[in-house]
Amino acid sequence: QIIQHTALVQKAADFARISLESAEGGHDWQHIRRVVVNANNIATTEPCNKEIVLLGALLHDIADSKFHGGDETIGPETARGFLIAEGALEDLTEAVVNIVAHISYKGGQVSSFYSPELAIVRDADRLDAIGAIGIARAFNYGGFKNRKLFDPEIPPVEYPTKEAYKSSTAPTINHFYEKLLKLKDLMHTDTGRRLAEDRHQYMLGFLEQFFQEVGFEGFSEV
Ligand code: ADP
Ligand code: NI
Repeated sequence: QIIQHTALVQKAADFARISLESAEGGHDWQHIRRVVVNANNIATTEPCNKEIVLLGALLHDIADSKFHGGDETIGPETARGFLIAEGALEDLTEAVVNIVAHISYKGGQVSSFYSPELAIVRDADRLDAIGAIGIARAFNYGGFKNRKLFDPEIPPVEYPTKEAYKSSTAPTINHFYEKLLKLKDLMHTDTGRRLAEDRHQYMLGFLEQFFQEVGFEGFSEV
């Protein structure tokens, strides 16, 4: 274990690993591990409380509303329950619960909470949605949802509205235009931005080659 941590961080890691044992492939313990590594990396260049960053990263997907009937409170409440049971101080508990509650505020919604630690964990989570790993996760999720890879009848561009996209059964390629290609401009930290740039270029190369292989001629970068 190369990341320095406290006993509470170790317990949170055990809790996350056990809780996410049978989670879907894109939201499993390995996703958490990667987000922790990214967050730890970004945290070395940003003023922050490292314990809050690590706990936030470890607990950020502890109970995703997507897999709990859309219940947005279950994640933060599960994190709170864990921290209280471990005797964490109230300030620390609140700081971590706020990360879990606010990390997944969807685009467009104005988040009422901000902290440097939230910014770091959000960047770390977003990094895992782009680049080679992001491509793998997108197709994994698409497969989980039984989505097509690509349909030449459905243009690989952004849908007119978020609602139109959400209510569609869009092929996985469309997810790049809805979200993945936008993430590099949504990073909060300089380190996050720098790491995102590399992964972004990799996705563009992937899309270009993908469309070439499937014989589709309308490739565009946005
Ligand atoms: P997180 O919970 O890590 O913040 P999401 O739950 O939004 O992120 O997505 C988890 C993973 O599944 C990401 O890699 C994302 O790109 C992918 N994903 C989410 N929605 C879709 C979709 N409609 N099509 C393909 N991939 C998706
Ligand atoms: Ni996540």
